[in-house]
Amino acid sequence: MEAKMLMLGLAVCLLLGNHVAALVQELDQRFLDQWKEGSWLVEFYAPWCGHCKKLEPIFQQVALALKHTEVKVAKLDCTQYSHVASEFDVRGFPTIKFFSNERNYTHRSDRTKDDILEFVHRVNGPAVRKLTSIGKFNDVASEHSDVAFFVYVSNQDPHADLFEKYSAVAEEKRVFTYFYAGEQKILPQEVKLTAVPTILVFKDRTYFEYEAPDSVATMSSVQSWVNGERYPAFPKISGGNINEMADLGKYLVIVVVEEVKERKTPSTR
Ligand SMILES: *[C@@H]1O[C@H](CO)[C@@H](O)[C@H](O)[C@H]1NC(C)=O
Repeated sequence: MEAKMLMLGLAVCLLLGNHVAALVQELDQRFLDQWKEGSWLVEFYAPWCGHCKKLEPIFQQVALALKHTEVKVAKLDCTQYSHVASEFDVRGFPTIKFFSNERNYTHRSDRTKDDILEFVHRVNGPAVRKLTSIGKFNDVASEHSDVAFFVYVSNQDPHADLFEKYSAVAEEKRVFTYFYAGEQKILPQEVKLTAVPTILVFKDRTYFEYEAPDSVATMSSVQSWVNGERYPAFPKISGGNINEMADLGKYLVIVVVEEVKERKTPSTR
């Protein structure tokens, strides 16, 4: 009897194990062609790597969350397929990358389920998202209330020169933040613009407008403005973004705190 139960338990475990494993597809050298089709979230790992083992259950949860989306979730053993890893410039383990439209993006924030899903959300779909109503703007503003997001504002030709530059910068920086575009009428009334088309950053419960040096918007000035403005005044530093922040060319004041989960205080009577 007991043995039977054990067998049954084992069978269930095996079944579940297989089921879960199937969520994260194991890749091989064929990925060199496969990545150009569809959207992929891939963990590049090495079997001996401790951080990879730690990531495993988290990655399973990510895969579960993405199960009903078009994103395929997979992993690649870099010790077996090192030429695939080097094709994508993988230098450490684990490396998480997203592939879509023949582009690849590297995840750089914390390796938590929420951060990885947030990364997928940022890099999947168009680099510049359209905002078509003030309601949509308000949704976006509340969704990103503790980060920074950019809005390109234009009332006519969306293919203005400034938009081309904005799109190029968005494509490059979307790993870190969100980029939108819309007409002036989708903005709250208190937003006053000095020029249209223009670019705004919303953060810290206010907004700032891009100023073209000598009224000529250059690629490098859009780039460095976006780079400098993409964090709120008091962002959280993590192992994943500290190098990025050090590259902003700003002074950093770092407050080191211990994060304490709210404890249930025993009821006093
Ligand atoms: C991956 O993306 C980087 C940065 O955009 C790019 O330089 C590199 O060529 C891409 N790799 C492949 C294989 O497309």
